[in-house]
Amino acid sequence: MTGKIAVIGATGVQGAAQVRELVSAGHDVLALSRSGGAVATPLGPVAGTAVDLGDEAGLFRNFQGCTAIFVNLPSTSFQEASGLIEAASRIGRAANSAGVEQIVSNTSMPVPAEKRGFAAQDARHDMRARLFESGVDTVSIEPVVYLDNLRQRWAWPSIVERGVVSYPHAPDLEVSWICHEDLARLMIAAIGRSDLSGKSIPVGGPETVRLPDLTARLSQGWGRKLDWRSQPIPEFCEGMRRAFSGIATLEAERLMTELRRIYEWYNQSPEKPFRVDMEPVLKLLPAKLTSIEEWARRNPLLGNHPIGG
Ligand SMILES: NC(=O)c1ccc[n+]([C@@H]2O[C@H](COP(=O)([O-])OP(=O)(O)OC[C@H]3O[C@@H](n4cnc5c(N)ncnc54)[C@H](OP(=O)(O)O)[C@@H]3O)[C@@H](O)[C@H]2O)c1
Repeated sequence: MTGKIAVIGATGVQGAAQVRELVSAGHDVLALSRSGGAVATPLGPVAGTAVDLGDEAGLFRNFQGCTAIFVNLPSTSFQEASGLIEAASRIGRAANSAGVEQIVSNTSMPVPAEKRGFAAQDARHDMRARLFESGVDTVSIEPVVYLDNLRQRWAWPSIVERGVVSYPHAPDLEVSWICHEDLARLMIAAIGRSDLSGKSIPVGGPETVRLPDLTARLSQGWGRKLDWRSQPIPEFCEGMRRAFSGIATLEAERLMTELRRIYEWYNQSPEKPFRVDMEPVLKLLPAKLTSIEEWARRNPLLGNHPIGG
């Protein structure tokens, strides 16, 4: 498959990595977002195009001439989901009408086959279903925890200022940490693969580690001895509430309760939702993945420079 690839959510941290990787892989990219901001890439900035997810006619106009769409939808953890579920329907209808051949969707989090009663995750379940029902070949790529989260303002200062990797994971929780670039490469590997239509594919990085091993690998990459701390979930939720105050549209108490519930589940579920065996996935979606140590080297431990949120 050749032709233009539209990236929805191109100015977000996940979408921007997809724009960079697509451009580096030689694709023609249409960078879509609410603001229409440009996206910096190693080959120069890609101009952005503004389109609101509520504007189906605008989505249709922009999708014309695109062979595939990478879908990144905004947070279901910090805002009301109904509008986002409708947005998924609009994207599906607009893509179908515009003759788009494929949708490659990023769920931004693990989404079990059955709903588990967690609002953010259940909403992603509905969004995935809307895209699958669109009539366009759709594959759902479902990442676990981003390494890039460590650079967010709720995790980075502890690493830089105190030398402590503090994260709300139990010491024995196994996590296949993935970086945004690797997710983008796996999505790119899915382009043109109509055989993947209707599949939900959980993805992670090349290593599955517990918090102490993660810290050891980061220490190696950054050349600095770090300690680790299993952050109590209530403390983490409080930090997230502060980080997202003014951005979240959900009422604070509801947001905190939902976050606490889902993090307890992540930590305790026998399903081990953050562990992915990447061997079969890489046979299906061949991609070069980044080790934790290599990711650390690419993201130097310099000063307090969080990536957002
Ligand atoms: N698995 C993990 O480790 C992990 C970590 C972090 C986040 N997440 C999840 O990732 C998801 C999204 O992350 P985020 O909130 O951090 O995304 P983000 O980086 O803030 O990006 C949001 C993108 O959506 C666009 N957008 C927002 N509203 C829009 C609208 N009405 N019309 C068109 N475009 C719109 C934004 O455009 P503008 O820039 O123009 O507004 C931006 O490009 C959430 O569900 C979050 O829970 C997962």
